[in-house]
Amino acid sequence: MSTIPIIIDCDPGQDDAVMLLLALASPKELKICGISTVAGNVPLELTQRNARIICELAGRSDVSVYAGCKRPLVRPPITAENVHGHTGIDGFNVFEPTAPLEELHGVDFIIDTLMASADGEITLVLTGPHTNVAVAMVKEPGIIPKIAKIVLMGGAFREKGNTQPSAEFNILADPHSAHIVFGSGCHIVAIGLDVTNKTVATPERMRTIERIPGKIGQAVHDMLTFYDRKNPEKYGSFGSPLHDPCTVAYLLKPELFASKLVNVEIEIQSELTMGETVVDFWGVTGRRPNVHWAHQIDHDQFYSLLLNRIARLPG
Ligand code: RIB
Ligand code: CA
Repeated sequence: MSTIPIIIDCDPGQDDAVMLLLALASPKELKICGISTVAGNVPLELTQRNARIICELAGRSDVSVYAGCKRPLVRPPITAENVHGHTGIDGFNVFEPTAPLEELHGVDFIIDTLMASADGEITLVLTGPHTNVAVAMVKEPGIIPKIAKIVLMGGAFREKGNTQPSAEFNILADPHSAHIVFGSGCHIVAIGLDVTNKTVATPERMRTIERIPGKIGQAVHDMLTFYDRKNPEKYGSFGSPLHDPCTVAYLLKPELFASKLVNVEIEIQSELTMGETVVDFWGVTGRRPNVHWAHQIDHDQFYSLLLNRIARLPG
């Protein structure tokens, strides 16, 4: 397997943080060109700081972090402090990272990096709202042939929404940007709640995480302890789904997933179903298939991969 060059665009968030640790722990497979951050779970000034914290925690302050868009393209911002806490990574004792934030805007980092690359060379990993990538596509459409594929966490089909009955957070937070990305013609792998809701950090899995030696295991355990929904009556167990690490796991072991090439459109008209991913799983509309929609995951092997990799990080 040759090294895959990637740009990560995220909104840390505890699950984004674990995704970053998985990516940082996989240098043989992934070359991280940089991390752009976006307003999402918490405001941009926190998501960019949190990304730098996680890079420093992993001993990878060499990875550049950029701040992108502060708000969605059209809609008023929504956040998720009720899930992630006011720092965005509650459970972890946050600190001011030593590595500075890059001065270049995250959108311009995405454009400059892609335009300097060969066609089909760089893969984008999106685990927050799609604002940065959508703005980059509008500002410089020439980036589109440069993108090998987009692997994103977002949407829901068989599962219902987690923020509105028909909408998942990343899509609902900026549905117009998602509309641009899903309509871009890029090779898109969408990993939605249908898959990620199967990756709950159950008490048994948390006990395994607790046994990972050193500060990284402790940090992951502490973050996921806070992130736990703590409502087994409603969800069937303690724990919360590790949504965002599924994107990096897909790049590392795509065989853990099953997907189907289908048409997916984003609802941007109806207030009632705003941000819905309308997945034509059975091809009844005749609309152009534009997304590889993930619908299965080997969640035990996912956790085995995740925890083995995180245990490799220093400290
Ligand atoms: O709906 C889950 C997604 O929204 C995850 O990316 C989580 O971090 C939040 O951004
Ligand atoms: Ca996220």
